[in-house]
Amino acid sequence: MPDLSVIVNGLKLPNPFVIGSGPPGTNANVIGKAFDEGWGAVISKTVSLDASKVINVQPRYARLRASDRGIIGWQNIELISDRPFDTWIDEFKRVKDKYPERILIASVMEELRKDAWVEIIERCQETGVDAFELNFSCPHGLPERKMGSAMGEDPEILKEVCAWVNAVATVPVWAKMTPNVTHIVDPARAALAADCEGVSAINTILCVMGIDLDTLRPQPTVEGYSEPGGYSCRAIRPIALRMVMELAQLIRADFPDRTLSGIGGIEDGDDAAMFLLVGAHTVQVCTGVMIHGYGMINTLRDGLTAFMAKHNFATIDDFRGHSLQYFTTHADLVARQAKARADAKAKREDMIQEDSEWSGDKFVEQSDKLVSE
Ligand SMILES: Cc1cc2nc3c(=O)[nH]c(=O)nc-3n(C[C@H](O)[C@H](O)[C@H](O)COP(=O)(O)O)c2cc1C
Repeated sequence: MPDLSVIVNGLKLPNPFVIGSGPPGTNANVIGKAFDEGWGAVISKTVSLDASKVINVQPRYARLRASDRGIIGWQNIELISDRPFDTWIDEFKRVKDKYPERILIASVMEELRKDAWVEIIERCQETGVDAFELNFSCPHGLPERKMGSAMGEDPEILKEVCAWVNAVATVPVWAKMTPNVTHIVDPARAALAADCEGVSAINTILCVMGIDLDTLRPQPTVEGYSEPGGYSCRAIRPIALRMVMELAQLIRADFPDRTLSGIGGIEDGDDAAMFLLVGAHTVQVCTGVMIHGYGMINTLRDGLTAFMAKHNFATIDDFRGHSLQYFTTHADLVARQAKARADAKAKREDMIQEDSEWSGDKFVEQSDKLVSE
């Protein structure tokens, strides 16, 4: 039977499946439910010192469905937790009292003030939380207060804030990256250079879910108006995988003792396996839990176990990062293909070799032949 347990920054998790910050970790009650169901770790909804500034609206979600009506995309314009900091402090303590062996990670976010970051870290860690995730990535609402992705897209600011945090943190610190930048590696490098033990990626991708074609108003519609929000769920998985792969390459090359938590559209064991194959140590699920409930941990565990059994992998370390070796440059793909063709000494007649060979009559058939099996 494959062993799903992982050790990340010295923390022992029974499996790599972590509740991502958001509604599934929004109070002690649901965090306890996640532990009872068997999740490897829980990251709380993002906490700040002054929740009175956090004012949510309704509706705050919009969904995208595939032609079979299954949900593939999810937009939210939800802010961080609107629950008072003192309540969170009590609940962190209560959860750790009840589940001392389980891993509870506090997601925190503050304004660009050293005293605020030092206070939030010190007060949270007194409760016994096992690690921190710094939310540098919430794309809506909070950037107006220079919080969230407003910090996360500026490597210089990020480096400064991570240094404030790491000067006082006595438990591991992960920095959660925004995908709403051109090169995700730049802010990640800044966080790791400032001694964060790990990075998490990705948070949501800025989006406009759609326009109601009867009312002509954007969705989700609040009193007739809307704002761009954060896109999550299955549709973002390929983008998340690309970014996690790039971060894994950075960690391998320059920070080999640091860790990576992969996030974005994970709903089954195969999805998780892909993130582990491109170098993630753990995987997080947020929207999936909102759609399928906490019991989806069984699907995740069973699926990953089946994948490992199929390949005879006994532990996650046996295959973590295995697929990184197969990413290369386009020039290298061309060179490899030229060599393969020369070796085979046979040109494949039925495949497009040059753009001039595309035909109007056989266009779909020709496109089909160029798709990877
Ligand atoms: C409704 C909702 C609320 C979220 N709230 C937070 C949050 O408070 N802090 C945070 O770091 N990420 C938050 N996220 C982002 C998720 O943790 C995750 O990074 C993102 O949704 C992609 O993963 P997924 O496709 O599994 O949801 C939220 C996501 C959703 C859908």
